[in-house]
Amino acid sequence: MDSITSYIETNKERFLNELIDLLKIPSISADSAYKNDVKTTAEAVKTQLELAGCDVVEIHPTKGHPVVYGEKIIDKNLPTVLVYGHYDVQPPDPMDLWDSEPFNPIIKPTDRHPEGAIFARGACDDKGQMYMHVKALEYMVKEQKLPCNVKFMIEGEEEVGSEHLADFIKANRDKLQNDVILISDTGMIAKDVPSITTGLRGLSYVEVEVTGPNRDLHSGLYGGAVANPINILSKMIASLHDENNHITIPGFYDKVEELSNEERAKMAEAPFSLDKYKASIDIDAVYGEEGFSTNERNSIRPTLDVNGIWGGYIGEGAKTVLPSKAFAKISMRLVPNQDWQEITQLFKTHFENIAPKGVRVKVNPHHGGQGYVTPIDSKGYQAASKAYEKTFGKTPIPQRSGGSIPIVSLFEQELKSKTILMGFGLDSDAIHSPNEHFGVWNYLKGIETIPWFYKYFTELNN
Ligand code: BES
Ligand code: MN
Ligand code: MN
Repeated sequence: MDSITSYIETNKERFLNELIDLLKIPSISADSAYKNDVKTTAEAVKTQLELAGCDVVEIHPTKGHPVVYGEKIIDKNLPTVLVYGHYDVQPPDPMDLWDSEPFNPIIKPTDRHPEGAIFARGACDDKGQMYMHVKALEYMVKEQKLPCNVKFMIEGEEEVGSEHLADFIKANRDKLQNDVILISDTGMIAKDVPSITTGLRGLSYVEVEVTGPNRDLHSGLYGGAVANPINILSKMIASLHDENNHITIPGFYDKVEELSNEERAKMAEAPFSLDKYKASIDIDAVYGEEGFSTNERNSIRPTLDVNGIWGGYIGEGAKTVLPSKAFAKISMRLVPNQDWQEITQLFKTHFENIAPKGVRVKVNPHHGGQGYVTPIDSKGYQAASKAYEKTFGKTPIPQRSGGSIPIVSLFEQELKSKTILMGFGLDSDAIHSPNEHFGVWNYLKGIETIPWFYKYFTELNN
């Protein structure tokens, strides 16, 4: 695989331009106005997989957005790597906070990426990281280095909960059979501190609606005598955490795995600067559950956060109104063993219970998924670790992430194989935020590292 570096040197302009072309298509899965763009993106991914050397590439329509499937099978007796990624992106809002157009990619340097970063929605999450795998395949096929079989499953609904991918997987278990699943849709600690993600949090996402009077009322004539849904909703939300920032929903922590002191000590060895963390997001203090460090709070502990809250008058000036309704979107990040459907039910029961007389409460579950932990003694992890050692000159640190890729636990359940999360993004890459970007260095480093994974994984399976 040593020729990968010269292959990248020769082809890097094209690798960048091909990614830029993909980033120009606004594949926003959440917004039905972009349904056609999502489809066009699937077709572009298909073309690239064909050009990279897949023998078979198919677009599978679903009830939602299509799944792109590709494969190159060289020998049935060799191991098979299944690459998963997503070509859909988050909505770019709020638009006015972007310094450049979200779907008109530009490359410019940043503090962390002096060699340049590609700014566009999806640059890091996940078009850029997914393309690293396509380009790595191209190299292995063109230079006759592919040591095993490879399958690709690139979906268009990750950012909206992968609802229809689950059906696709259940209907295609044989086709998707593999020895390891490889994903680049997470991050690493720093450019000089490689890490492998060993855990993802689960998710339960609900929307709540509090209804008071049957219409908006004059806040002078009725104020003080009628329950105000916004006041009530705020109180109810505030009561979901106690003074130690523990979540108060009965049963919420019942299945949370407590890590041993050794494991916690090991976690604390990962390089981390609280001052830099605070400075990077411009806060003067961190905040969270009593008794846990920042890195524990955002990885091994469950959370409950309001993602949006609205109701009443929010236009210009003042309008004296006592609103009829108030709403909030609430997400709970879960840790492995917590069942998302059970937690959703616990939330619903509790939230309905704490509603005072005078209002009606509705809880509408959105989507969710289980958390995931991957062992570090598997062949897949060992192969990934060796690959990073080769290209970074350092052993990667295993690290649990706070983010979620809910479909990963279903992979294990349906396909019975472990997932390896080789992420090359940085926390500062602003995924889901304005000015999302992906370092050119990170993109190329991913392309360089991935072929080594294939080599070592195949060797370890011999
Ligand atoms: N790629 C992210 C998840 C991620 C990012 C995990 C960084 C670890 C590190 C994925 O696209 C994502 O955004 N997932 C959603 C969940 C989904 C159901 C909308 C999330 O974590 O909010
Ligand atoms: Mn992603
Ligand atoms: Mn995402």
